[in-house]
Amino acid sequence: MPELTVVIVAPDSEQRAMLQVLVDGTSVAQVVHTCASFPVAATDPVIRRVQSANPDVILVDIPPDGAAQALRGIELLRQEVPDPALFAVGSMSQPQVIVSAMRSGAREFIERPTTTTDLLEAFIRQTAAKRKLHREGSRGKIFTVVNAKGGSGATTIAVNLALALQAAHGNVVLVDIAPLGHASLHLNLKPLFTVADAIRNLHRLDSSLLESFTTRYNDGLQLLAGAATPQAIEPSTAEYARLFDMLAAHFRYIVVDASTRMDATTRLISNLSEAVLLVAHADVAALWSAARAQQYLQETAGRERVWLLLNRFRKITGFSETDAEAAAGVKLLWKIPNQYFAVSTAIDRGTPLLQQGHTDIARSFHGLAAHLTKNDLDVKRTAWSLFKTV
Ligand SMILES: Nc1ncnc2c1ncn2[C@@H]1O[C@H](COP(=O)(O)OP(=O)(O)OP(=O)(O)O)[C@@H](O)[C@H]1O
Ligand SMILES: [Mg+2]
Repeated sequence: MPELTVVIVAPDSEQRAMLQVLVDGTSVAQVVHTCASFPVAATDPVIRRVQSANPDVILVDIPPDGAAQALRGIELLRQEVPDPALFAVGSMSQPQVIVSAMRSGAREFIERPTTTTDLLEAFIRQTAAKRKLHREGSRGKIFTVVNAKGGSGATTIAVNLALALQAAHGNVVLVDIAPLGHASLHLNLKPLFTVADAIRNLHRLDSSLLESFTTRYNDGLQLLAGAATPQAIEPSTAEYARLFDMLAAHFRYIVVDASTRMDATTRLISNLSEAVLLVAHADVAALWSAARAQQYLQETAGRERVWLLLNRFRKITGFSETDAEAAAGVKLLWKIPNQYFAVSTAIDRGTPLLQQGHTDIARSFHGLAAHLTKNDLDVKRTAWSLFKTV
């Protein structure tokens, strides 16, 4: 069942039909009503029809030759139907129209011609805002691990972070979205099903079917495995959005191994994430790549979500952590020490580092897990102390 209801206001019939198809194509939103004209007064029947449809989002198309009427319509809708979020769709080549639309109360300005991905990203920001408003605390948190540059250690970090979270909290799933998934090799598992199976069955996916597509590691961590062969047909971002919506309803923490995948899917999942860990080594090429990658991810995800994680870290004279942050343009979250022998044997044997006792590197992963969840613990502690004082 789509989460958001949408009313489209678009005088151009072709554009109206197209927007309807694109909105429904996101699978997170559904058109409940369309209007073929902009309201011209507060008493306009268009206003009444939008009010009675009671949507979450009003999508207003701004035609290139009718911007003034559209902007007046946005103002009226904002005044008379204040609850729904208002998204404007228009040309990016008229900055004055964008500014006026935003000033009149549009929350998003989406490029015309529009794509399902653009709409989906806007809808996801809207659902995230809606959830915050309702203080929906029971949904799982997503941590996405992605490489600035191939082979930087995303899989090692995702696997061990997931194990550390599982040890501390339980109910963790590791989701492997790499083009070729290596997480199962790191854990020495032989999965029967993959992310692609879950997505192929989205239409009937409930908690128990979702569980059955995961493979269980012996400490209880569940893996939704990646592809074992390159996939000819990639699922759409809308399908990924629905899958992650289900995962967040079912698991407490969701760790995503995106490895070196830097595309619309990684960006979408980054949008949904509590934190995005951008993995890089402290060298010029890796930090240069990190700067590009964070720009791409932050275009839609927002600056405060993406963090730098330095892997294979060792002190280099004349190069400080502040230099690394400046080169990558993103704040440093954590450093994982360089221990080539321990890490490569762990991968070759399929025995993760966290299973190997109290090494420096295992401690570092437990520390990372504790750091990422420290606010979750704060919430619990506050609730407990309040209880005590009553
Ligand atoms: N902290 C570390 N210290 C030493 N070596 C490491 C560390 N982390 C990873 N490595 C080495 O880097 C190599 C790549 O690790 P891993 O498979 O986790 O990378 P990846 O970023 O997931 O690669 P890909 O881009 O293929 O997805 C491994 O062979 C591993 O031995
Ligand atoms: Mg990998």
